[in-house]
Amino acid sequence: MKLLITGMAGFIGHAVAKRLSGQGHEIVGIDNLNEYYDVSLKQARLDDLAANCEDVRFIKMDLGDRVGMAALFRDQRFDRVIHLAAQAGVRYSLENPHVYADSNLIGHLNVLEGCRQQKVKHLVYASSSSVYGMNAKTPFDTADNVDHPVSLYAATKKANELMSHTYAHLYDVPTTGLRFFTVYGPWGRPDMAIFKFVKAMFEGKPIQVYNHGDMSRDFTYIDDIVEGIVRVLDVIPQAGAARPGDVATPDKSAAPYSLYNIGYGAPLSLMDFIRALETATGREAICEYLPMQPGDVPRTWADTEALLQATGYRPKVGVDEGVARFVEWYRGFYNV
Ligand SMILES: NC(=O)c1ccc[n+]([C@@H]2O[C@H](COP(=O)([O-])OP(=O)(O)OC[C@H]3O[C@@H](n4cnc5c(N)ncnc54)[C@H](O)[C@@H]3O)[C@@H](O)[C@H]2O)c1
Repeated sequence: MKLLITGMAGFIGHAVAKRLSGQGHEIVGIDNLNEYYDVSLKQARLDDLAANCEDVRFIKMDLGDRVGMAALFRDQRFDRVIHLAAQAGVRYSLENPHVYADSNLIGHLNVLEGCRQQKVKHLVYASSSSVYGMNAKTPFDTADNVDHPVSLYAATKKANELMSHTYAHLYDVPTTGLRFFTVYGPWGRPDMAIFKFVKAMFEGKPIQVYNHGDMSRDFTYIDDIVEGIVRVLDVIPQAGAARPGDVATPDKSAAPYSLYNIGYGAPLSLMDFIRALETATGREAICEYLPMQPGDVPRTWADTEALLQATGYRPKVGVDEGVARFVEWYRGFYNV
């Protein structure tokens, strides 16, 4: 198959490209290499792909480039698209709202249009656990209503799901949205807690612990996310899986449209997570306790039953193993 991976210089995009390489596919990846975080890490991921994956090709492109994106889809004729490029980060969206509209709304529309025009057989795209917003019922289920986001980032991800449903219905573009839960692992993002904590711990600096440590997350190891994406790629939603007139739930539709959570499936308290980091680094964390951050949610927990039913897969890497692998990568990559 000919595959497009958007956001290939990113944390998840790089891992997906590496996993799909060597399986007889032709893989094209795009990314705009923006400066939201250290560009040299993005470049290092691309260098890693260039050195190890002959079947992967990179094109520098911005999702917002309407003409360029249309030409890319027209010239390359992708069978399937894995759309991971986005402006990520909850906190950054408080200060920089417009880039979320540009990359996540206009960018997503350009991907949908490309899929529509070129009759792509399956669009798999990244949504986020942040869409659950103010929901208190746990575990979070894709059948739950998610109309109460608490950040613009979350609102753009929910909008992506709505836009995708529309294209699935109107133009028969099969779309699958994946709500990822706090992803961590080697080659991870410098703006995320695990990276910041490990860096500070090796430098002997304090770590910022929000909501005075009263938080929990469904921490999900990168390999589990990648396995979920790869399996879902072959589970193409069919039109008519639910009939018009059926009682609608947010994740079921007569259009060829699916939604899944990909999370480990169990919440872990932030303080237990920090203890796992202390064990893996051999350093003690100096905690600076701070109030809850605007835009943040106190806990996340994925119901993974639908993913299991559809793909036979349930994420399985526990936090001790996952954190140890991250720290091992960090030490090697940054020479500490
Ligand atoms: N990492 C997580 O915990 C997590 C959780 C939930 C959802 N997600 C979603 O998963 C996807 C991948 O996340 P990630 O952690 O790999 O983030 P990342 O920032 O490492 O990767 C995203 C990549 O997209 C690129 N990009 C951003 N805007 C672009 C644009 N306009 N045009 C072209 N490229 C652009 C960036 O340069 C980056 O390399 C994102 O959609 C993110 O919102 C991630």
